[in-house]
Amino acid sequence: MLLHDTEVPIRVELPEDRSYSIVFRPHAALPVLMREQGLRPGRCLLVTDKNVAAHYIEGIDVALKEDGWEPMVLVLPAGEQTKSTEHLHAIYDAALSWGIDRKTPILTIGGGVIGDLTGYAASTLLRGVPLVHVPTSLIAQVDSAIGGKTGINREQGKNLVGTFYQPVLVCIEPKSLYTLPRREWHSGLAEVVKHALIADVAFFDWIEDEIDRIVARDPGVVTDLVYRAASIKAKVVSEDEKEQGIRAILNFGHTFAHALERCLGYGLFTHGEAVTLGMRAALYLSRRYNRKVDHVRAVSLLERLPHPPVPSGFSNSALSDAMKTDKKRDAESLRFVLLKEIGKAYTTDTVSDADVNAAWSFALKRP
Ligand code: GLY
Repeated sequence: MLLHDTEVPIRVELPEDRSYSIVFRPHAALPVLMREQGLRPGRCLLVTDKNVAAHYIEGIDVALKEDGWEPMVLVLPAGEQTKSTEHLHAIYDAALSWGIDRKTPILTIGGGVIGDLTGYAASTLLRGVPLVHVPTSLIAQVDSAIGGKTGINREQGKNLVGTFYQPVLVCIEPKSLYTLPRREWHSGLAEVVKHALIADVAFFDWIEDEIDRIVARDPGVVTDLVYRAASIKAKVVSEDEKEQGIRAILNFGHTFAHALERCLGYGLFTHGEAVTLGMRAALYLSRRYNRKVDHVRAVSLLERLPHPPVPSGFSNSALSDAMKTDKKRDAESLRFVLLKEIGKAYTTDTVSDADVNAAWSFALKRP
């Protein structure tokens, strides 16, 4: 058993009155929760996507109206393509024509795409209006809705334009995870396992014990899983809001994953599937440099998260080149997040090209 009480909100502790709570409550509690944040009924804007709208928008709309709110609902297309300038402008136009003022909250109801895009809009509209995240996907509940990263994609790459802009509230209804397609559930589990690997060996032990029930989305484990994973994210962000140090460990497996996504195109794998393969590579390197890392144990847990077959026809060196191109933007050398042991991560920029090559072979099961 995990020892925690999901009735107690998780806190993200930040300077200058920017701390906020992540609460585990039904969507119907939003009006009360918003009042607790000092938001007073008036106009508000709800941004969601077509898939999520079908399940949740009516309930939220009704609850807000009953409390005196006047919601305007903007439904965008589902999918990564929506993180674009075009849809950003659609939010600007909807908000401005609705006549928002600097106290008008914007609620994001959906996964990472809607959260990142709408978060960016909220951070720039009238130089910043209150933002409430209502994440409905596993990735959003344990990762993207926490920590204030917002952004849109450009032709040159993902998330290249964005801000750090914290919400005033995150409201998680774990029940919403049951409408998530199975593949998205697995994709989110990759980020959950990542949180355990980098920061919490007891959580890793628990996931290992409960993996069958977790993969099957058993209601007896889902809330615990989300609460614990979200707590890890909140703690890391509280220590390093702007990613000047420790927050970088959240990128475990991501240097490899981004290279895979760039090389293979963004449609083949979900982000989580690419991260699963990326973590295999990072675990190989971790073991190479730290004998205490039980990579066999970690990799066998990752094997439980399915991913489509990796196409042949592209070389390890092409993948490594994609990794380097990505990093040129940081004006720094290639940095890797590795484990000292399960539950303890660190960053390093002294990994040899030969080891990176061997890590690709291991991750992609190449002979
Ligand atoms: N998803 C990584 C971060 O929020 O820092």
